[in-house]
Amino acid sequence: MTHFPESFLNEVQARSDLVEIIGRHVELKKSGSRLTGLCPFHHEKTPSFSVSPDKQLYYCFGCGKGGGVFQFLMEHDGYSFPEAVEYLARKAGLEVPQGKPRDAAEQSLNKAAYALLEKVAEVFARMLAAEAGKPAREYLQQRGLPESVGRDYGLGFAPDGYGFMEKCFGSDARRLSLLEKTGLLFRSERGFGDRFRARLMFPIRNRRGQVVGFGGRILGAGEPKYLNSPETPWFHKSALLYGFAEHRDEIRRRRQLLVVEGYMDVLALAAHDLPIGLAPLGTAIGEAQIREILRLHDAPVFCFDGDRAGRQAAWRALERMLPLLTTDYAPRFLYLPEGEDPDSLLQKEGREAFVRRMEEQAQSVLQTWLSGLKLLAGQGAEGRARMARKADAMLATMQDAYLRQAWRQEIEQETGIRLQAARQAARSAPVQESVQDVPLSELQERFLAGLMQKPQRFHLLPEVAKQFFVDYDGVQQVYIRAFSIMAAAEEQNLDIAGKLLQEFPQQSAIARWVNQAPVHDQEFESLCLAMEANAIRTRQRRMRGRLSIEESRAMQMRLRAIHDELRRLNENLEGTGA
Ligand code: UTP
Ligand code: MN
Repeated sequence: MTHFPESFLNEVQARSDLVEIIGRHVELKKSGSRLTGLCPFHHEKTPSFSVSPDKQLYYCFGCGKGGGVFQFLMEHDGYSFPEAVEYLARKAGLEVPQGKPRDAAEQSLNKAAYALLEKVAEVFARMLAAEAGKPAREYLQQRGLPESVGRDYGLGFAPDGYGFMEKCFGSDARRLSLLEKTGLLFRSERGFGDRFRARLMFPIRNRRGQVVGFGGRILGAGEPKYLNSPETPWFHKSALLYGFAEHRDEIRRRRQLLVVEGYMDVLALAAHDLPIGLAPLGTAIGEAQIREILRLHDAPVFCFDGDRAGRQAAWRALERMLPLLTTDYAPRFLYLPEGEDPDSLLQKEGREAFVRRMEEQAQSVLQTWLSGLKLLAGQGAEGRARMARKADAMLATMQDAYLRQAWRQEIEQETGIRLQAARQAARSAPVQESVQDVPLSELQERFLAGLMQKPQRFHLLPEVAKQFFVDYDGVQQVYIRAFSIMAAAEEQNLDIAGKLLQEFPQQSAIARWVNQAPVHDQEFESLCLAMEANAIRTRQRRMRGRLSIEESRAMQMRLRAIHDELRRLNENLEGTGA
């Protein structure tokens, strides 16, 4: 795992401009000390998305997404954390520190492997253009794929026979070993052999655009039709999507994403000016891939052959998708006529008809689910019962409580069976509701906002403030941690929100506080008092009967004093017209 030193992360953050990064996707308008715009994470007509340029944090008051520049690149642009750091570092002209020494060997191996894989792709591409590649070029032509697409996607040709890799790269033992590790050679009793022979080669890239493996198609008929690189430390089939690196930007720009089954489908789409296709690598689509797809676009269309196998594949994809679904996503399923794939359809009916098909015939996940269940369950009362039971089990995997409710209602209407009542006797394991963001009281919300907006206020807080109690453990943890950070901090005005967010990247509330309407000094003063009063009342409640008389009296007096002070402050506020 990559681990960046904190000082480096700070440097990267300091040299990055969140407003610029967000500004690529959102039109931001100035509003006081903040910028606002339409949230890029959910659909809305009036802006609830706020960016604080001085704190470098964003927050959407509509959907609750929030964070700093790293979070934005991860949540919005689909980067992993190390990728986001590297991207920003490179942009700022910073050298990315190499990991700990014990990783040095691994790193140099990685570097060598990526360089080699890239070279191999080049060699294959050169072969496709050369005399030896003529049959492959003819094959492409026969399949209607323009040469320009072949070039853009780096297609190549692996010539027939053994020894091509050795001829290109020499037979140095370390070389051969690396060629084996990267899956280009296999080892047998008779030595090393070329894995790919007489095949049209599709280089497969990871998210960073590095070649990590290949798919190779036989020219014409034969078995296996496609041969893929084996799993290697760099090539993980279940985590990769063909077309991702090539299409990431176009998918975002066009707001269109089509998930298809094969390499040729991805390329045929691109040839018809639809560079929006992604395909798994010959395996059923898995959760990691679906997650990736949804991060890239909220309304992808999943294409499947309309035959039995296609419907089964669609059902598997749907099952894997359920835990990831929220109301923010609207994936759709498109069944193509039996025996057709996007490639064959585009050849037959052309681009326009295909796009129309995609727009008109793709069904929502819910529709796909309902019709799939009906098909699986069969007719009659037994069918309805089977349908309800299967639906209940599937609903339990859904994490979004609201969506789950809505779907449950649909299935209850469809079957006439009340799921909950039916389940009650059997087992009563309620599904964990995932709380995305906790609803703090208005008081606590403003108080925390006041602190995050002006960190020097930490130093003005009374001693008792450490005992202020915030509902919800997660937030309380953040609050307590803030004190110890501020106590250890050298500068009075340390960017506490950014610091906290590094430690609690899931706590988007931190970004929300920063982006709240400004908390002015006088308001903050009264918030502090009110927090203290609450803390006292909580203590009274908890310690009921166990407090000494003196203690009780002291508390009562303090409460009265707070009350007076609050009234004075309020009168002041009204007096100044604030
Ligand atoms: P298909 O058999 O549907 O082929 O495999 P296709 O994509 O239509 O290919 P063409 O049009 O005949 O060239 C779909 C995907 O399944 C994987 C490949 O990734 C392929 O793109 N596959 C298929 C294999 O990995 N191995 C095979 O033998 C066949
Ligand atoms: Mn095909």
